[in-house]
Amino acid sequence: MSHQQVAVLDFGSQYTHLIARRFRQLGVLAKLYPTDYDLSRINNLIGVVLSGSPGSVDEDQYPFNPKVLKSGLPILGLCYGHQLIAQNLGGRLKKQEAREYGRATLQVGQSILFDGLEGGEVVWMSHGDSVEELPESFKTIGSTEGCPIAAMANEAKKIYGLQFHPEVTHTDSGLKILENFAYKICRAGQDWRLEDWEKNIEKQIKKQAGHKKVFLLVSGGVDSTVCFALLNKALGEQNVYGLHIDTGLMRKDEAVQVRGSLAQAGFKNLEVKDCAGLFLSKLEGVTEPEEKRKIIGQLFIEVKEQVSEELKLNPKDWLLGQGTIYPDTIETGGTRHADTIKTHHNRVDKVQELIGQGKVIEPLKDLYKDEVRELGKLLGLSEKLIWRQPFPGPGLGIRLLCHKKGDAGDVSQVAEKLRQAFDKIKIIEELCDDCEIAVLPIKSVGVQGDFRSYAHPAVIKWPSVDWLKVEKISPMITNKVKEVNRVLLNVGRAMSDVGRGELITASVSKERLDLLREIDAIAQAEVFKADLEKDIWQFPVVLIPFGIDGQESVVLRPVSSLEAMTARFYPLEKEVLSKIVERIESLNKTSFIFYDVTNKPPGTIEWE
Ligand code: XMP
Repeated sequence: MSHQQVAVLDFGSQYTHLIARRFRQLGVLAKLYPTDYDLSRINNLIGVVLSGSPGSVDEDQYPFNPKVLKSGLPILGLCYGHQLIAQNLGGRLKKQEAREYGRATLQVGQSILFDGLEGGEVVWMSHGDSVEELPESFKTIGSTEGCPIAAMANEAKKIYGLQFHPEVTHTDSGLKILENFAYKICRAGQDWRLEDWEKNIEKQIKKQAGHKKVFLLVSGGVDSTVCFALLNKALGEQNVYGLHIDTGLMRKDEAVQVRGSLAQAGFKNLEVKDCAGLFLSKLEGVTEPEEKRKIIGQLFIEVKEQVSEELKLNPKDWLLGQGTIYPDTIETGGTRHADTIKTHHNRVDKVQELIGQGKVIEPLKDLYKDEVRELGKLLGLSEKLIWRQPFPGPGLGIRLLCHKKGDAGDVSQVAEKLRQAFDKIKIIEELCDDCEIAVLPIKSVGVQGDFRSYAHPAVIKWPSVDWLKVEKISPMITNKVKEVNRVLLNVGRAMSDVGRGELITASVSKERLDLLREIDAIAQAEVFKADLEKDIWQFPVVLIPFGIDGQESVVLRPVSSLEAMTARFYPLEKEVLSKIVERIESLNKTSFIFYDVTNKPPGTIEWE
């Protein structure tokens, strides 16, 4: 007897995979399918979800058979899916002037989909278009300030549409809504168990590896460590070779710590290779973030090939192992319709080529970080290893923003637009006259409405920081001024100095890396002292080539998250923040200290 199943038609949203993950979390098997998949081929299908998308419904980019809406199956459309239902059943859409990214408050109406919800619900939006007129026989069951038809339903036909994303953890009652859809509307029993996964993965490893051995690149983070443990368990440690490459882009003393903690955890088949010189020389003079990522990813493979040769390993007998998890794939545009947010180091051309040849094994590629942590617990790894903060493969290499001489830095038009928008926000939010705003001439990567953005950060300062107010006005700024994708608080020197700041020519160098390492170690130590390391999902510290008298500036970026697809900036306690600022300033090596108060979307966690 096959499991009951919910089919998720994948229109390419950054969150599509997360939808399936949520149903599995509820004990219901859910799988992703192409948008034109013949659903009659799926046994025991109990419901269909139409995902969000980077595209726009009126562009008709994705093949979709409207018969799905007449199949009698319960349907849930999310974001793009919501609009697709409206368009196909006779409703009307409109392009919205003000786009909506991040938090919004939903007023909920009567519907079985919203059973158990209270009234004013925090939901997560990420869209430009919206539904203006309902299709026949539909009613509005939820609205937000910027989106009158944020939720609609035809209860008799069991067809529902939501403009927001219930699948992300930052929609407070999102899981409850999906639970209502699964249990009350699709009438799902809970016949799928997460515990079966470990066995499933081991089975898949054995099947894919066959008689081959695995050469695994181990960063020492939770993903590669869990992957290492699983491979050892499934194939035996004599068939797995673990290599930790010290890229010189690691945190202070990290390579030593990785070796120590993995030895303590009982991994015997691990070697460490110092390649700092090689990585630095290849990154010399490179300033483009995508190029940096690609060079770093490529070098990982070259080092692996060099070591294989030295060890005289026959390439025919070996697969390359990577601890890739799902967000790495999706953000590189890894599904049919997804847009590239950035190329993760484990998805560069050379790796894609090897994947095409069937020479790569990635046992965790469908999982999210929190699932990887659950697996780690099941495998008996220590709390310390499991709870290590995520650290990107390209390491500090992507936390070091670079600038090439001659690249334009004129932001006067954006500054004027921003000032006008902020004047209005000041009145609406009753901010004091001392609140000031400026724009920085640098750019960083972000994700807005499933697309990559590359835009400027705005900087604000006011006398005493009120985190609740900041949380409210940060998205107001990024929603109103599209040339801006992040908001920073100036937590160091005077705002008038920002106007004197200049772009500094800079690329990846040992000197800059050492400075960043020193500042990063301060932030890490203070977080650890304050016992916050489990509350803060990740705390990137970024060095930006902008400042006064040739000194660069620092961005502090602590965030809370569960699986990195969405994130909220983390409001550090005042004392902890003051201590970090005081210690960084006492180094006398930097200009400004900024605190990133952008959620994801519209920012990403990392800056590059
Ligand atoms: P973003 O910045 O996209 O990050 O919000 C989501 C998560 O992915 C990590 N990250 C990377 N990890 N290679 C990696 O192994 C990369 O190129 C990379 N870029 C981002 C990031 O640290 C966060 O945990």
